[in-house]
Amino acid sequence: MLLKNLREDIDATLARDPAARSRLEVVLCYPGFQAMLFYRLAHWLWQRRWLLAGRFVSHLGRIATGIEIHPGARIGRRVFIDHGMGVVIGETAELGDDVTLYQQVTLGGTSLHKGKRHPTIGNGVIVGSGAQVLGGFRVGDGASIGAHAVVLTEVPDGATMVGNPARQVGARPSQPRAEPAFQPYGVCGDIPDPIARALQGLTEEVATLRTRLAELERGASAPAAAEEGHPALRLIVTGEGERAS
Ligand SMILES: CC(C)(COP(=O)(O)OP(=O)(O)OC[C@H]1O[C@@H](n2cnc3c(N)ncnc32)[C@H](O)[C@@H]1OP(=O)(O)O)[C@@H](O)C(=O)NCCC(=O)NCCS
Repeated sequence: MLLKNLREDIDATLARDPAARSRLEVVLCYPGFQAMLFYRLAHWLWQRRWLLAGRFVSHLGRIATGIEIHPGARIGRRVFIDHGMGVVIGETAELGDDVTLYQQVTLGGTSLHKGKRHPTIGNGVIVGSGAQVLGGFRVGDGASIGAHAVVLTEVPDGATMVGNPARQVGARPSQPRAEPAFQPYGVCGDIPDPIARALQGLTEEVATLRTRLAELERGASAPAAAEEGHPALRLIVTGEGERAS
């Protein structure tokens, strides 16, 4: 199970970072993947009540990667932490499947009480760099949290939250962010591509010019055809008949 999870973590990195070229590269060079490795071991120890050992492994992970994940946190499958430095995930945080976090994200608390005080992040959520999600509330499936947003209240499924304090700027249908639906950096896929738009404009202009050219060619060749051709055609094109009458 542990190995299966790790293989999925590697594949999630490959799928969501175009810069990742091979599994070996992910294992050797991706702090997000390495942090998950430390976390899975630390969590395994924590669940067996080897609390200090769990904390210690988690601390080693923090030294090695700059990502601090409390061993008590509950993290789903295919979670991808990109770049990672400065990420903090608190003890009672819960993350669903296919979650993506960028650097300097905090999933933190705002109170000292021992119970649930860190957020629950739904499936397929993307949390932008520097975002702070603070409190024991839920961030709905498929939500996007903008870079540097400060989120202090429940987030509906599919919502996009930006600013400090975060406000909702739009809603999209809830969908898991597993491939191929993953939207890099949480940005909507329907943003017009300026190059594609320019090419489309040029294609339309070429089509218009072709039509116009064909019309002109028809116009230019008609008198010549009339001179060589049938007398009736000559009459129509040159108007000789009208003049005669
Ligand atoms: C929040 C985010 C997901 C929105 O993407 P989107 O759905 O395509 O939304 P848009 O870009 O159309 O922006 C919608 C509105 O939110 C505003 N907005 C977008 N991102 C914002 C942010 N981080 N902070 C404040 N406002 C933001 C836009 O200005 C726009 O405002 P308007 O409606 O008044 O014009 C995206 O901008 C974002 O921050 N992604 C995280 C990227 C990241 O962390 N990258 C790190 C890579 S290392």
